[in-house]
Amino acid sequence: MNAQIDHNLEEIRRFRPAPEFAAQAVASPELYDAAASDRLGFWADQARELLTWSKPFTRTLDWTNPPFATWFDDGELNVAYNCLDRHVEEGNGDRVALHFEGEPGDSRAITYAELTAEVKRAANALIALGVEPGDRVAIYLPLIPEAVVAMLACARIGAVHSVVFGGFSSQSLSSRIDDAEAHVVITADGGYRKGRVFPLKPTVDEAVAAAETEVRAVIVVERTGAEVEWTDRDVRWSEAMADASSEHTALPFNAEHPLFILYTSGTTGKPKGILHTSGGYLTQTAFTHKNVFDLHPERDVYWCTADVGWITGHSYVVYGPLANGATQVIYEGTPDTPHAGRWWEIIEKYGVTIFYTAPTAIRSFMKLGRQIPHGFNLRSLRLLGSVGEPINPEAWIWYRHVIGGGSIPVVDTWWQTETGAIMISALPGVTDLKPGSAQVAVPGISIDILSDEGEPVEGVGGGLLVVTEPWPSMLRGIWGDPDRFRETYWEKFGDKYFAGDGARRDEDGDIWLLGRVDDVMNVSGHRLSTAEIESSLVAHPFTAEAAVVGASDETTGQAVVAFVILKERQTAGLDIATASEELRAHVAKQIGAIARPRQVFIVGELPKTRSGKIMRRLLRDLAEGRQVGDTTTLADTSVMTAITEQVR
Ligand code: WT7
Repeated sequence: MNAQIDHNLEEIRRFRPAPEFAAQAVASPELYDAAASDRLGFWADQARELLTWSKPFTRTLDWTNPPFATWFDDGELNVAYNCLDRHVEEGNGDRVALHFEGEPGDSRAITYAELTAEVKRAANALIALGVEPGDRVAIYLPLIPEAVVAMLACARIGAVHSVVFGGFSSQSLSSRIDDAEAHVVITADGGYRKGRVFPLKPTVDEAVAAAETEVRAVIVVERTGAEVEWTDRDVRWSEAMADASSEHTALPFNAEHPLFILYTSGTTGKPKGILHTSGGYLTQTAFTHKNVFDLHPERDVYWCTADVGWITGHSYVVYGPLANGATQVIYEGTPDTPHAGRWWEIIEKYGVTIFYTAPTAIRSFMKLGRQIPHGFNLRSLRLLGSVGEPINPEAWIWYRHVIGGGSIPVVDTWWQTETGAIMISALPGVTDLKPGSAQVAVPGISIDILSDEGEPVEGVGGGLLVVTEPWPSMLRGIWGDPDRFRETYWEKFGDKYFAGDGARRDEDGDIWLLGRVDDVMNVSGHRLSTAEIESSLVAHPFTAEAAVVGASDETTGQAVVAFVILKERQTAGLDIATASEELRAHVAKQIGAIARPRQVFIVGELPKTRSGKIMRRLLRDLAEGRQVGDTTTLADTSVMTAITEQVR
């Protein structure tokens, strides 16, 4: 356990809900009671209340074949209809769905009626390209309205989207195209980031050339006007949309029809294609979005800063908010372009009331000081959310005071790509808030903490976080790999879902997350695999051997630190700084900039046990500047002394 988390556990502050907030709160204590007395009935009620079903379901959960669950499986609905048409039919067509803010300062307000019309056109355009229900479509776009349109157009026609974050490399994109066998890719000529155009189309061309799967069509949104090469398979988004009709009737699909695949890092080098389906996913994203964020759709302006390339963007930019008819902001660029107050300026400009971001962002703003946010009017804010990693109490308090003005609720939400929606969080207006703790399972969710042997930890204590009962938005599998699905999540504790996180329960029953217990790192709220980065390093001609650890980092939570042994034949005469720089750049190019190691240390040896296993624990001690721990199980105990000298 690291020092920061030790420190978090000493936190004792509590905040009662303000009476004015509680009086208008969407959530109520009755939600807990209802879910406790009849969990499945509770979810069935939520599904009926929050969604419009084309064919009502009669069965809630089928768990006769664990770990494969189905929810509402004799019901039918169209996810896009639920996010769009029905709001227009209910008279809310003029409500703004998206306030888009481009990084260069261009903006667009898109109403529910307009978004519905665009999605209908895009659905027809995909159909014209031969996309059929169940086909996979890869989406590689900046955070622009077309990304939302593309996802919903897939959902509307029953195609399965696989969104790949625009920061990933051509190789990452290519392997995802192959894994899902996507025959159509939707991209852009580029996007704006840090005041510059970053190209996407050339990356797609490279990925498509490298892929084994035959990509029939690449649809290209012209976002920046940058020159791109056009090939026969390329289709301009503007032309495809102009040629398509704006009439399209959404057909119903089964509640278990696949909605999307989203890749996430695991403990091996190969990312897992997490599969989510329709009815249960939309039920839980809508339920949590409404109750955890206290959504009043007629008056709130909601802003979640996540990119649609991550699960947070899927569940809390696209599906949850739009199913609930919310008005939201989406922003294309980086927080500090063209100035360090850009986010606060956006909050002021749109009168944002609900704001959802990651601890890493909060900590980097803390470093810059309160005078930057204080230069803007943030008084519209009435609720703040956090996601992605544990939020340290100092950052929580700063967030509440400096951004929130001192008295509004801050909710820390724990969940994962696999869980699809929020699982642990306070309910604002109901739960007393405790900085640093994600607190309690949301109504209808069953969480426990187990010992390594699978025994429940009673009362106060720490262990491994599990979900003990199936939940509506749970992953339905890993695309194409049922064995890996069983092994990763279910082998350890039978029919209880093993999340891969350590956790502790305090004397009030509140849950504190303690970080990953596997070889997965969390860098700026994004999951990275040590194995994936190691295999990228080893693929470089300089590298003989490599070991990667996640070292705690003041701003990003964890940072990637690599230890590399060079091949003498390739690197004779090369200085260490050049080699290390080259390897950092190599990882960024192979996987994506988020995976670029903070440091690459060139060493002569790696610490190994007698059976040849690398002892990453010792390397982590070194990377975090601590006294190196117990080395007695090393094959050669002098190795750490040598490495320590090389690193200093
Ligand atoms: C992992 C999931 C789902 C949102 C973005 C990340 C960590 C996430 C919290 C939190 C402590 C958290 C966990 C989890 N995590 N939220 N509020 N407190 N840890 O999604 O990439 O699937 O990563 O992020 O370690 O397992 P993801």
